[in-house]
Amino acid sequence: MESTTQKPRLLVTHPLFEPARRLLAEHFEAEYWNGPERIPRAELLRRIADKDGLICLLTEKVDEELLAVAPRLRLVATVSVGYDNIDLAACSRHGIAATNTPGVLDETTADFTWTLLLAVARRLLEGVELVQSGTWRGWSLDQLCGTDVWGKILGIVGFGRIGRAVARRARGFGMRILYSDAVRAPAETEAELGAEYRELDSLLGEADFVSLHVPLLPSTRHLIGAAELARMKPTAFLINTSRGPVVDEEALAQALERGQIAGAALDVYENEPRVHPGLLGRKNVVLAPHMASASLETRTRMAVMAAENAIALFSGRRPPNLLNPEVLDRLQSPQS
Ligand code: DGY
Repeated sequence: MESTTQKPRLLVTHPLFEPARRLLAEHFEAEYWNGPERIPRAELLRRIADKDGLICLLTEKVDEELLAVAPRLRLVATVSVGYDNIDLAACSRHGIAATNTPGVLDETTADFTWTLLLAVARRLLEGVELVQSGTWRGWSLDQLCGTDVWGKILGIVGFGRIGRAVARRARGFGMRILYSDAVRAPAETEAELGAEYRELDSLLGEADFVSLHVPLLPSTRHLIGAAELARMKPTAFLINTSRGPVVDEEALAQALERGQIAGAALDVYENEPRVHPGLLGRKNVVLAPHMASASLETRTRMAVMAAENAIALFSGRRPPNLLNPEVLDRLQSPQS
């Protein structure tokens, strides 16, 4: 396909970063959405109609409605590791390859998990506010006393790449590490990370910090609800850098209101960008705007990875991060 003069046409729903743009320019006729706001749905549906590929963000829903208006579409590449924005089964039905960007954001996301954990435990935002407001009167023995992190028990829910990267950092804090996961990790991994397997219920009852690292699946939606929050210690904190709907926000707001847990630090929300009003304005809650992977290096790598997935497919190769390999049989070779 690349030998002909007509390059495949891509819709890219964000300006991305220069290295990714350069790569795409060599292989595609790429149309970018450069608006300051994310692409409106109607605009997305209009622009996708004559495109061969789509590079999108996790804020764009790729569903039957979109696929139905894009008869030429052969690829959807999301610039994110999570792909709950994509109806994978629908893509497969239409013979469309879907890709994501796993791996490159693990360490950056783990760093930010610790940023949140430390901030909420040590009351960082209250301290910053005190100084910034000009009302700080100086050091005092009982001022802003938080909770120690070192030596405590960390409960990691979801022990994939990011969960394990969080565990590695916990060792530096001399913490005891518990984890739960649908699949128990190999004994060597447990030994290497000093991590002990627990059923979720036991982990919730033992941990001082519960950090969530599961993908959003039907089985993980509201994994943490009223019953799970009730199992946590009143001194424990909940950290979520996975996906918002993993936590029942209404239940979390109530648990915080009742003092059932000590606090929470969240990067993701059930209905982004809306945040449950019961979570706002609480001193013991740190709220970040879905930014755990947001380092310039990592976001650039994610964009390049999406571009490489697109290039691979349209060059007749298997995209390195293909999510639905079953489509490959049905895809015509681009050279044919
Ligand atoms: C992802 O990639 O899924 C994150 O949530 C955003 O970086």
